[in-house]
Amino acid sequence: MDLEFLQHYSQADQWDMLMFLYESALKEISTKIEILNAEFMRTHNYNPIEHITSRIKTSESIAKKLKKNGFDVTIENMVLNVSDIAGIRVITSFTPDIYNVAEMLAKQDDINVILVKDYIKHPKENGYKSYHMVVEVPIFLSGGPVPVRAEVQIRTIAMDFWASLEHKIYYKFEGHAPSSISEDLKECADIVDMLDHKMLQLNEAIMRIKQDGER
Ligand code: GTP
Ligand code: MG
Repeated sequence: MDLEFLQHYSQADQWDMLMFLYESALKEISTKIEILNAEFMRTHNYNPIEHITSRIKTSESIAKKLKKNGFDVTIENMVLNVSDIAGIRVITSFTPDIYNVAEMLAKQDDINVILVKDYIKHPKENGYKSYHMVVEVPIFLSGGPVPVRAEVQIRTIAMDFWASLEHKIYYKFEGHAPSSISEDLKECADIVDMLDHKMLQLNEAIMRIKQDGER
């Protein structure tokens, strides 16, 4: 984002303007993903996406993250160093859908992919799996386009189920869960893998039977 553009505003107005831009980025990206999903339904008779959620990071969380990473809490630092102020989560049925959605989004002319972290090919030590993209999308204001960053997390329902529980446990124990719980969670991550794999195979079998029936 061009910070010069913010200089025209007072400190309080800068905050409001930024939140407006991040909200707009969420709308813009969610709409793009919804349209791609609807198009997929028309051409493939199949919805890759189960649902989409989005959120704006609270000012408290933004400040906490800046401090954690050794930055002063300023508007400039937050724009330049916090890439998940606008966050979108896309939940798919199956693992290949994740890559389809990511590819369709990255191919859009006005989406600029800044960073990709593939925690599916490279799961985190605790078992976390998800596909993360930091993207930039232009928000067209009266004075011209302003590029705005957002974090897109794409994962299956099963991966999301696991991540929600892990998140709760992490907070409950402030990051220091008893090892028996961490081990059980890791085991659950393996079960999630197996479930995703089995469900995909089952779905492929169903599709084959449907296709044979149509011939
Ligand atoms: P954060 O400072 O947590 O944002 O991490 P990061 O800047 O290193 O980026 P990363 O892509 O690793 O993580 C971004 C986001 O992914 C986090 O804010 C969480 O929403 C999610 N995430 C990452 N790791 C985990 C995890 O181990 N468990 C869960 N439940 N969520 C995670
Ligand atoms: Mg985050």
